[in-house]
Amino acid sequence: MNEVSVSAPGKFVILGEHAVVYGKPAIALAIDRRFNMKVKKDAVFKINNDTADIKTVPHIRYISGKNGMLPVSVQMDSKIPTGSGLGSSAALSVAFSAAMRSITDRPLNEAEIAEEAFEAEYFAQGRGSPMDTSTSTHGYGIALNAQKNEEDRLWNITKNEHVWNISHIDVPEMTFVIGYTGIRASTGPLVEKVRKYKDRNRFAADIVDEIGQITLEGMNAIRKNDVAALGELMTKDHKLLSILGVSSKELNKLVNASLPYAYGAKLTGAGGGGSMVVLTDDPDKACSAISSHGGVPFVVKTGVEGVKVIEESE
Ligand code: MEV
Repeated sequence: MNEVSVSAPGKFVILGEHAVVYGKPAIALAIDRRFNMKVKKDAVFKINNDTADIKTVPHIRYISGKNGMLPVSVQMDSKIPTGSGLGSSAALSVAFSAAMRSITDRPLNEAEIAEEAFEAEYFAQGRGSPMDTSTSTHGYGIALNAQKNEEDRLWNITKNEHVWNISHIDVPEMTFVIGYTGIRASTGPLVEKVRKYKDRNRFAADIVDEIGQITLEGMNAIRKNDVAALGELMTKDHKLLSILGVSSKELNKLVNASLPYAYGAKLTGAGGGGSMVVLTDDPDKACSAISSHGGVPFVVKTGVEGVKVIEESE
C-alpha cells in the first residue's frame, strides 16, 4: 500500500484515572471525537507538509523505529483538543501504529496496535497506563482489571511490575456531557505528582486504593444499569482525585455548577485543567451550567468504533 487514511477515537474516563497507573481498576469509553491521519510513503519524513525532524514528535519517532524508519509523510487532522484530557496523544499513537501496519501490508491486529501505541506513549511521557491507547484502539468501552467475564477479555499488557487485564464492556445507554476548561494540561507531570505524593505518604496510597475500590463498585452499577449509583461514585471519585491534587479551581467550578442537573460529575483524564464529565438526563441544563461558568460543553456520543482504516490506495 502507498497511502492510507486512518481514524482513531478520543476517550473519557468514567472512573479510575491515576489509580490505573498502579494497576488498579478503571473504566473508559471511546467518544465521537476522532483523530484522522493520512500516511503516504515518501522520500523523507514530512509532518503536515513540513520536512520534519521526527525526534520532535516522540510518539511518531518511537513507532517509526519499530517499523524500520520507513520515511512517510503524515497529515494530521484532530477533532480532539490537545491537552484536553480526552486522549488526543493516545489517538495519535494508535492511528500512526495502525497506518504503518496498513502501509506495510500487515493486518490490523488490535492487541499489537494497543501494545505498540502504549509503548510509544510511555516513551513520550516516561510513565502511564495502557488505558487511553487501549480505548482508542478497541473503541466502545473498556474495563481494566475490573471485568471477571472471560468472554469479554481483549488482551493483557504488562509493564514493570504492573499487569492490566483489558476487557470489552458494553456501553451503557447513558448521556454524558463533557466540559472542557480550555486549559491545556500535560499528563506526564500530573502522573508524576501523584506518584511522588503516593510514595511519600501512606494516606495518598490509601486514596489510590479507594479509587480502585469505587471503580469496582462502579462496574457493578454499570452491570445493573444503576445510573444514580454510578453518578454518586463519579462525584466521590472527583473528591478523591482532588485530594490527590490533580483537580483545579476551574474543574471544581464546572463540577459544582453541573451537579444540580446531574447524577454525578468529575474531572476526566489527568486533570490539572483539561476536561470534566457529567452523567445526566438533562444535558441542556448541564451544558448551560458549564458554559455559564467558563467551560466549553459538548454532549458526547459513545459506543463508537475503535481505530479503523478509512481509505487505502496503491
Ligand atoms: C490520562 O488520561 C489517564 C491517567 O490515568 C494516566 C494514564 O493512565 O496513563 C492520568
